[in-house]
Amino acid sequence: MLPESVRIVEVGARDGLQNLPTPASWEVRAQLVDLLSHSGLRHIETGSFVSPKYVPQMAGSDQVFQSINRQSNVVYTALTPNLRGMEDALKSGADEAAVFASASEGFSQKNINCSIAKSLKRFEPVMELANQHDIPVRGYVSCIVSCPYDGPTTPQQVAEVTRELYQMGCYEVSLGDTIGTGTPLLIKKVLEACVRDVPMEHLAAHFHNTYGQALANIYASLEEGLAVVDSAVAGLGGCPYAPGASGNVATEDVLYLMEGLNIKTGIQMDKLLEAATFICSQLGISSRSNTGLALASGS
Ligand code: HMG
Ligand code: MG
Repeated sequence: MLPESVRIVEVGARDGLQNLPTPASWEVRAQLVDLLSHSGLRHIETGSFVSPKYVPQMAGSDQVFQSINRQSNVVYTALTPNLRGMEDALKSGADEAAVFASASEGFSQKNINCSIAKSLKRFEPVMELANQHDIPVRGYVSCIVSCPYDGPTTPQQVAEVTRELYQMGCYEVSLGDTIGTGTPLLIKKVLEACVRDVPMEHLAAHFHNTYGQALANIYASLEEGLAVVDSAVAGLGGCPYAPGASGNVATEDVLYLMEGLNIKTGIQMDKLLEAATFICSQLGISSRSNTGLALASGS
């Protein structure tokens, strides 16, 4: 049976903008977050407190957090790779933090410059500080199907890192198909392995759409009982350390799918499209959302 409602976590202002050839200004990023917060989205990833040498596009995340018009019913999240990131997130007033690990060693090294084991160790003081301040922490596991450096990942590898993040206190672990190579059967196998240690209500789907499989993979995940989906407005995005990987599944496309399945999200399509139109015109790009393009052309 499919879930009655799904929580969508909007990652466009972070995952969507972290790979741009010319970084978006913090003013544009803040405006995007504000537009998204008027669409009914309740969970918005707003920035990253990572090294600007690694990801210059996310510099100024403190200014983004400080200049948004906060809605009381929206959770504004920040990516925090280490203690320094968590301290900066707290100073900026983030409501929630996210730590990110990889199921594959190659990506872990390239993305956060350390092994999987060392990254998990590094998250311990991050979790401790978050606890002291009552800040919930989300976890990410990247490369759940395949790694751009190491090739295919096994479901067991994913399940191990997912369990570690859950056991250290992440209230939810988001499973990242970073390079978008997954297909429904592979995704189901990953979920089946993870759910042995982590209840399904604590898992989320974070699928990039490189091979156009993200919606099929989301549907397969819903069939398994998953009810939290990450997506990016206009299908923006990609990871600087995952060459060739395209954007996240578009929020508009996920919303269209949910509406068709009578699954509640609380999101208004017209408001979402305003945010998409804004960011695409600011960046001088076309939307990667099929739904967005169809609605814009009056189809
Ligand atoms: P490192 O080089 O091992 O760290 O990087 P370090 O501690 O040796 O510090 C190096 C320099 O960075 C120092 O500066 C530090 O001060 C500075 P220097 O002395 O050279 O001038 N530094 C920082 N600056 C700002 N904020 C910080 C911070 N920490 C250190 N928090 C580190 C390790 C983790 C910092 C680095 O590798 C990093 O920032 N990586 C982030 C990579 C990233 O953001 N990737 C994209 C997000 S993950 C993703 O997209 C996947 C996801 O979407 C899920 C999916 O799709 O799979 C989540
Ligand atoms: Mg991602």
